[in-house]
Amino acid sequence: MKPFIVYCSKTGNTKKIAETMADETGTEAHNISDVRNVPKGTFLLTGSGVYGGNAGKGILNFIESLPKVKSGKAAVFETSGDGKKIVAGEQMKWALEKKGYKVTGSFVCSGTMFKIFRRGYPKPEHFEQAKKFAKSLK
Ligand SMILES: Cc1cc2nc3c(=O)[nH]c(=O)nc-3n(C[C@H](O)[C@H](O)[C@H](O)COP(=O)(O)O)c2cc1C
Repeated sequence: MKPFIVYCSKTGNTKKIAETMADETGTEAHNISDVRNVPKGTFLLTGSGVYGGNAGKGILNFIESLPKVKSGKAAVFETSGDGKKIVAGEQMKWALEKKGYKVTGSFVCSGTMFKIFRRGYPKPEHFEQAKKFAKSLK
């Protein structure tokens, strides 16, 4: 299954995860600034970093701008300093559910923070986990 991947990434971690998921599923990852709408009937996969305890405004505004759907499916992913608790993913999930999407999965891992903390994250195992997650989407 080829999800339609849209991500918001200020420092590149979420972008890398998005591109890994895209490669694994034979599709492209779209930066939020390049996307206005979602092809009908596609599985929507949205991703974001966590900034001050929130998902990127761009991705939430994007979801807010989508038309309501009757039976859409979606999943969410995020990178954060914490890398465990799903924060941006929960916010994207609520926003997607309001639009009629059923959110069937979520993925989170750590990303390098402010260039100095958690250097080397996401680690190779996180990219492997991201691939498995993308492949498992239904
Ligand atoms: C301005 C800013 C605020 C952040 N706030 C949080 C936060 O509240 N909680 C957290 O776990 N990580 C926080 N982080 C870390 C980022 O979520 C983490 O580096 C993430 O991988 C960034 O994704 P990106 O590289 O795709 O932008 C923050 C990073 C930045 C740059």
